Amino acid sequence: MFSQPLNRARVEAAVALAQIVFHHFQIELPPFAAWTVADWERAGPAHDEVRHCMLGWDVTDFGSRDFSHIGRTLFTLRNGNLHDARYPKSYAEKLIIDPEGQRAPAHFHRTKREDIINRGGGNVLIQLTNVDAADHPVGGALSVVVDGCRRTIASGETVRIRPGESLCIPPRTIHQFWGEEGTGHRIDGIGYTVSSEVSSVCDDLKDNFFFADLTRFPVIVEDAPRTVYLCNEYPAAQVPTP
Ligand SMILES: [Fe+2]
Repeated sequence: MFSQPLNRARVEAAVALAQIVFHHFQIELPPFAAWTVADWERAGPAHDEVRHCMLGWDVTDFGSRDFSHIGRTLFTLRNGNLHDARYPKSYAEKLIIDPEGQRAPAHFHRTKREDIINRGGGNVLIQLTNVDAADHPVGGALSVVVDGCRRTIASGETVRIRPGESLCIPPRTIHQFWGEEGTGHRIDGIGYTVSSEVSSVCDDLKDNFFFADLTRFPVIVEDAPRTVYLCNEYPAAQVPTP
């Protein structure tokens, strides 16, 4: 298996590529998506919601050491913070790049309920599995809602979500989703779909449960200059000296 820890050059390339993909799908990002390291080092406490709710770019291989297969590039547009009363939003929204061949690892959340919305490109395949009280995958039936329409599937089954469709993933449901091979819009030889996630507050530091030795925010090998900060990297606001 290809094995290389996530490095800064790969992170920078992933952000640059995501900007091309969002442009292709005519999805506009807020201005802080284009902020440089220097911009953030100048930004005062008025921008603390971006820092403290972990908005912005998010590139991870989950510690898989195999980013092109197990990894994600996301942009968090809005979020609250369950641990800080200054940020009372009860909802979150992320954009997710789905290049064919790459997926996030199977995982579940204890508190977050998320809708996965296919925003365009190809199809998104979502595999859903029940989890028991001891956090182990189990069989049985599973009730899912696709665009307001409830249906029953078998635990472990995969649901196809076409452009414009969405599926709600309740807490304590193992999920893994990816762009269906051969259906995405081709950009530089790879098929792309963009999905978004609308959810209850996303507590990425404490509410992701994986089934392997993985982590949400791996240590990044600094092999190239950083031009953008990821959502977990912002420097604290500089308080001006009087
Ligand atoms: Fe999730």
